[in-house]
Amino acid sequence: MDDLRDKYIDLIGKAADEAALEDLRVQAVGKKGEISLQMRSLGKMSPEERQVMGPKLNALKDEINSALGAKKAALADAALNERLAAEWLDVTLPARGTRRGSIHPVSQVWEECTAIFADMGFAVAEGPQVETDWYNFDALNIPGHHPARAEMDTFYMHRATGDERPPHVLRTHTSPVQIRSMEAGGAPTRIICPGRVYRADYDQTHTPMFHQVEGLAIDKDISMANLKWVLEEFFSAYFGRSVKTRFRASHFPFTEPSAEVDIQCQWKDGSVTVGEGDDWLEVLGSGMVHPKVLQAGGIDPSEWQGFAFGMGIDRIAMLKYGIPDLRAFFDSDLRWLRHYGFASLDVPTLHGGLSR
Ligand code: DAH
Repeated sequence: MDDLRDKYIDLIGKAADEAALEDLRVQAVGKKGEISLQMRSLGKMSPEERQVMGPKLNALKDEINSALGAKKAALADAALNERLAAEWLDVTLPARGTRRGSIHPVSQVWEECTAIFADMGFAVAEGPQVETDWYNFDALNIPGHHPARAEMDTFYMHRATGDERPPHVLRTHTSPVQIRSMEAGGAPTRIICPGRVYRADYDQTHTPMFHQVEGLAIDKDISMANLKWVLEEFFSAYFGRSVKTRFRASHFPFTEPSAEVDIQCQWKDGSVTVGEGDDWLEVLGSGMVHPKVLQAGGIDPSEWQGFAFGMGIDRIAMLKYGIPDLRAFFDSDLRWLRHYGFASLDVPTLHGGLSR
């Protein structure tokens, strides 16, 4: 019995895995295992022999079983340790650098304009970029022969011969959205419309696609004084300092009277600072909405009146963030975008004062 014990204790100690251990269990204490067979032979023994052998065999069986159990636990432990070592992960290592995109200055300024005008009660209106020439011109009191049509270097959509639909253009300004929102909402109204506009023009200060924000306020008693206040509020909020405006009499077909608006600035060493100095910089066109334009939008000009303005978004982005070249806005040069772009968590907001 001692040989049997030594043999199995030795084999169990050497078992390499659970499968080998299971084989040993079957060999030793399984139904037909060596120890089990011995126990079965107890029946043929004399009572005296049995009294000696019985407890011994039982003790042997117990010893083998607990050796099997202990070895099984040890094997499981070893396997777990091996897995833990293999799957070990150093969470203190610095993270791998990820390239994050940035917010384009045009998107940023678009948002800033929206926030400032929203604060003054203006809603955002939208219109299509492919527009009929009626909305883009006629409804704005720019008739077919008017030089403004030619001046605007309009892109016309191609028409196949025989296609009799009215001409469509890429909108040359955001002003057609005035008409669309008058039609949709009537008066009174207060909207801005930021958006893309298109003109066939390309040089240092012009790109064929650029951005404008249109403004329109219509009510019973709106005047140029309201326009001036709104614009000065806007520029002061936008530039984060008090900014004076200068109104110069001008002409637009869709407003009467019309004014071009300059903001106060100073030129020094080739760069410009807004809100100080004795120079002026033209930034937008504006005026009182022409009665014919109100009529085209379905609003009775004997009852309602209002102001409108149109401003270049790219232009005021360049002024605020010191960006010298307009064309670079649309080059998609990653170095430029990383330099002038805004991290998404680091954008100037209205509640943060809007200045960077
Ligand atoms: N639509 C004009 C342009 O693109 C700008 C403009 C001038 C808009 C006067 C207006 C306005 O609403 O009243 O040049």
